[in-house]
Amino acid sequence: MSTGLPSSDPFVRKGQMICSISDLQSGGRAFRFDVLCGDLVAFPGMNADPDDHLPAFMIQFENQYFAYLNRCAHVAMQLDWNPGQIFDQEQKYLVCATHYAVYEPQTGRCIQGPCPKGAKLISLPITIKDNDIYFGAL
Ligand code: FES
Repeated sequence: MSTGLPSSDPFVRKGQMICSISDLQSGGRAFRFDVLCGDLVAFPGMNADPDDHLPAFMIQFENQYFAYLNRCAHVAMQLDWNPGQIFDQEQKYLVCATHYAVYEPQTGRCIQGPCPKGAKLISLPITIKDNDIYFGAL
């Protein structure tokens, strides 16, 4: 499941800071980062080595913050049109650049496109403390 491509995105382990809330605007550019497969709870289709880095992103939507693996529920491709550009033009939905699957930003649920019925993005747990966002519980 690893992209195999070198990434310049920051690598964040569980308990480490992802970004500050000031780095994100509602419906704006996503903050991209990488996580370690071994830090994730197993999910359907997970077959990566525990040492693999997986791409992820953080977004703000209507003053709420969400983190997901950057992995489309249709095919395990990153969603971005350009790095960090995942929201549609109306800044209401996340859209995969490959075959245009549309996702609700607050649930990760696929609501349109070629995903299997009931498919979702894989959500990552976050904790917000002192205006900073951390991966997992503190
Ligand atoms: S890979 Fe995302 S819609 Fe097909």
